[in-house]
Amino acid sequence: MTELSQKVVIVTGGGSGIGAATAEALAERGARVMVTDINSQAAEQTAHVIAQRGQQAEAMQQDVCDNAVWDQVFAKTNKAFGTVNTLVNNAGVSGAGKDRFEEPEGLEAWRQIMAINLDAVNMGCRRAITEMKAHGGSIVNISSVMGIVGGAGPAYNASKGGVRLLTKSIASYCGRMGYPIRCNSVHPGYIWTPMVRQIAEVHEEVETEQELKEMLLLQHPIGRLGDPEDIANGVRFLVSDDSSFMTGSELVIDGGYTSV
Ligand SMILES: NC(=O)c1ccc[n+]([C@@H]2O[C@H](COP(=O)([O-])OP(=O)(O)OC[C@H]3O[C@@H](n4cnc5c(N)ncnc54)[C@H](O)[C@@H]3O)[C@@H](O)[C@H]2O)c1
Repeated sequence: MTELSQKVVIVTGGGSGIGAATAEALAERGARVMVTDINSQAAEQTAHVIAQRGQQAEAMQQDVCDNAVWDQVFAKTNKAFGTVNTLVNNAGVSGAGKDRFEEPEGLEAWRQIMAINLDAVNMGCRRAITEMKAHGGSIVNISSVMGIVGGAGPAYNASKGGVRLLTKSIASYCGRMGYPIRCNSVHPGYIWTPMVRQIAEVHEEVETEQELKEMLLLQHPIGRLGDPEDIANGVRFLVSDDSSFMTGSELVIDGGYTSV
């Protein structure tokens, strides 16, 4: 695998789960990583783990929904590590149990989920295009199998489907404009992270996390749920120049979830 010492990366939602594993996997290959999260302590913890290994990372608090903060994140990363050439839009929420069609609060939940999972990805991509159009770069957007098939809550499904097509639109736009920017999406199956474990609290058919795990397992022909590192490995490939002919692609890493 190509080393990543020329990569200056922003990973959003890097304080937990897939984002933390991705930040670590990229730094391990020499990338300089700005870890951002709405939970500043969690972002700092990931950066600390990376720094303890003698690799390069810094942390910054960021609510991805705040457009003005995107400018600050790019400015701080440019200053700390050099010109940003990679953005991983990973921050997201499941909104599990909140966006019910027939309940009045469902509409507000829909708006919140869309704001984090889709609008904010758009904001990050817009900022990245402005920053990278002259010198080039790579954007990786974390979508989901739920961006390909239905099954989760409506807002989650719609937001992740939106990320899938936003990604293709950006790839197409950058090509037309002659910008040397690649943009790809990643579609994880169920990965055993805090986001998924919390689903047990609201799921109507399960009582415990263990029951949830067993139920989800049946949907993954490979016989296990994913680990955050399974997704981090795919992101690392898309970030690296090994994937230099890929743009507008959807990398499905789902243990066979979408094949049944
Ligand atoms: N875990 C899965 O099974 C799975 C499957 C498919 C896709 N995904 C996607 O992968 C991404 C990461 O999920 P995860 O499972 O690691 O979840 P997680 O809950 O472990 O981590 C998500 C991180 O995003 C942060 N975050 C939430 N809202 C934010 C905001 N407004 N601004 C900045 N940071 C914010 C949280 O603080 C948290 O640290 C999400 O986009 C999720 O939809 C996860």
